[in-house]
Amino acid sequence: MTSSNSRTSEYPIDAFFLDRWSPRAFTDERIDRDVMLTILDAAHWAPSSGNNQPWRFIYGLRGTPAFDTILDLLVAGNQRWARNSAALIVIVSKSYRVASNGEHKPAYTHSFDTGSAWFSVIAQAMKLGYHAHGMEGFDKEKAVEVLGLPDGFRVEAAAAIGRMADKATLPEELREREVPSGRKAVAEIAFEGKFSGEA
Ligand SMILES: Cc1cc2nc3c(=O)[nH]c(=O)nc-3n(C[C@H](O)[C@H](O)[C@H](O)COP(=O)(O)O)c2cc1C
Repeated sequence: MTSSNSRTSEYPIDAFFLDRWSPRAFTDERIDRDVMLTILDAAHWAPSSGNNQPWRFIYGLRGTPAFDTILDLLVAGNQRWARNSAALIVIVSKSYRVASNGEHKPAYTHSFDTGSAWFSVIAQAMKLGYHAHGMEGFDKEKAVEVLGLPDGFRVEAAAAIGRMADKATLPEELREREVPSGRKAVAEIAFEGKFSGEA
């Protein structure tokens, strides 16, 4: 087992996986465009079926209109803390691929592939001293419109990136939630040979 960040794993995993978590308290430090692009460069080295690379990232740096546009899409509960982050991202994926005859074919794993790119965002951000916090709570339909998404792209999730701050900087009602969460037992999610968990 490994212990770090107030968490303990069952097996001797790398502490990185325990240190990764989703804080809401961010310092007011900004992020340079080159740093943001470094993080997204890392993300696009993720694996994907047929090297299809279905992920696309629309980002905004705090202090720019692009940040305000994405912030405006978030539900109020996310806006409260995400407004202090250094950057906001909307992650979308292309749901089809184009065959050599020009025909559009569904890309079965587009969301799966884009999920691995999201984890690469997290990993590169952490290696640079930042944390990333995913968000489902935002207006996806409006995102299609205001971000100018072409047909056939699925809006997957949004994320906030920034340098973690002390939880004392959060509004009081968010402070008690600012604790690294636990996980199910490994036996509940890993099955040798045949599914044997709860439906
Ligand atoms: C795709 C996705 C969507 C999420 N949506 C939200 C959200 O809208 N608001 C929020 O505060 N946290 C959100 N989270 C954070 C999760 O609640 C968090 O990852 C989960 O509780 C596990 O905690 P940890 O990431 O700190 O380990 C989201 C995370 C992911 C990956």
